Amino acid sequence: MARPVPLGVLISGSGTNLQAILDAIEEKRLDAVIRVVISNTEDAYGLVRARKHHIPTEVVDHRKFTTREAYDQTLIDILQAQQVELVILAGFMRLLSPLFVRTFSNRIMNIHPALLPAFPGLHVQRKALDHGVRFSGCTVHFVNEECDQGPIIIQAVVPVFPDDTEESLSARILKEEHRAYPRAIQLYCEGRLRVVGRKVLVDGLAKEESQVLIHPPLKDEEG
Ligand code: GAR
Repeated sequence: MARPVPLGVLISGSGTNLQAILDAIEEKRLDAVIRVVISNTEDAYGLVRARKHHIPTEVVDHRKFTTREAYDQTLIDILQAQQVELVILAGFMRLLSPLFVRTFSNRIMNIHPALLPAFPGLHVQRKALDHGVRFSGCTVHFVNEECDQGPIIIQAVVPVFPDDTEESLSARILKEEHRAYPRAIQLYCEGRLRVVGRKVLVDGLAKEESQVLIHPPLKDEEG
């Protein structure tokens, strides 16, 4: 049987995606083991979540480093010491240097709360609302040297309603993030992801024509 894939998870905040990954591992939906959780801020609640599950944690404060490379080298040293194979960015709000990306080439995943390549960067739920899109969602992708541009592994789509606020849309997207991220990682763990150019090919996927979405719906009666 294949061994569980060793993960290193990088966070900056509340860590609900980390929690979803921890839950998926415990429920045996994800054949992985988290070797270390690293945060760039000591008050990230994700650290508390990790400790509750007896996962080793590290705080590496970016303000104590003069260059991005020096900071990233410290992350690399921790991850390599723990023999991490796959690096998971779970709300890690820092750009990674080419050094880091090359060290873990095609072995870094990120989750982003929009349907990339639409709305890269920050405050993207607000941008989606302001743009008037009918759908938004989340994207899990491999990380390359361009921010939010790496090959896409999985996307989940949610409708955007006229009365949505940034909070309500963010919550709807976050719920789907918690389903999509463990699934993307499990596809990696099963060896089913192949990066070809800027595409990710997923082995053994069913093709379902019923996945078409339309919003507003074709019928507009309420109830
Ligand atoms: C998530 O919505 C994630 O998609 C986003 O930060 C949030 C972290 O939540 N990431 C980015 O915006 C990366 N550019 P969490 O700490 O509860 O998992």
